[in-house]
Amino acid sequence: MTGTADIIRKARHLGLGIPAFNVAHLPMTEPIIRAVRDQDSFALVEVSRIDWLKFGAQSPAAVMAEYRRHDDPRYVRLHLDHVPVVDEDQKRVDYRAVIEEAIALGYQSVMIDASRLSLEDNIRVTREIAGIAHRAQIPVEAELGAVLGHEAGPLPPYEELFKSGRGFTRPDEAVRFVKESGCDWLSVAIGNIHGAVGEATKDQKKVEAHLALDHLGKLAEVTGVPLVLHGGSGIRQADMLASMKRGIAKVNVGTEIRQAYEQALKAGGSVKDAQEATYACTASLIKDWFQLTGIRSRLMS
Ligand code: G3H
Ligand code: ZN
Repeated sequence: MTGTADIIRKARHLGLGIPAFNVAHLPMTEPIIRAVRDQDSFALVEVSRIDWLKFGAQSPAAVMAEYRRHDDPRYVRLHLDHVPVVDEDQKRVDYRAVIEEAIALGYQSVMIDASRLSLEDNIRVTREIAGIAHRAQIPVEAELGAVLGHEAGPLPPYEELFKSGRGFTRPDEAVRFVKESGCDWLSVAIGNIHGAVGEATKDQKKVEAHLALDHLGKLAEVTGVPLVLHGGSGIRQADMLASMKRGIAKVNVGTEIRQAYEQALKAGGSVKDAQEATYACTASLIKDWFQLTGIRSRLMS
């Protein structure tokens, strides 16, 4: 079976950004995989700590069990998304235990998110996790810079934030980070923001983010590794497509498919109806938004 590291490397080479769909609720797993298969595409299925603590994914073990029921290795791989060292509510997390558990369960790649720490500490923690992941022969994703939006409390207006460049990943730091941490993929901040996850804000529609594409080009050039775009819901489409030609090889999508699922339930629908809403949303993202229908054979050859 082709490993996730090779697939993402190939995606970077081909200028494709592989979507990674967050399972915020366990029943979303089946329609996500079905949509990828029906589009003859390729994607990662992923779960973050937020998905099991604040939404309905339950636990890494529960997602693995559900994934195994529907897995089709011709089309998907399973990834452990954001395991923070300090979380969005400023709590310390036993990140190592979570990641070791996921690796033991058979997750095929993992993310350590030490982006709320200093550069030195981010490097130190990422190196520790890269050692563990590489011993298990799986790739590790890390984050440098601040992809804001998960934290409680209001953000400054988006356009102000973008203009200020607050939190953007710095090329000089990125070079050092990749070299010293041993990460395989790097999540960068280039104008992208996360959809809100707080109780009062999680149903809101995201603002349309745009991307600093020249800045991204620099990051791609100096780091050389596949880059990851978080906050993939609702980014201006032209920017998102252009980012795939400039080093983005993985695009995380959470809010959009989660809201499709939750809105169907809220409207009085059954779990089955919510699954169909997830299916329709995922299929349309792959086909119309990311334009990745039929890419599977190019990626796996
Ligand atoms: O790690 C998850 C993603 O970055 C999802 O972002 O919810 O804004 O699509 P999003
Ligand atoms: Zn993210």
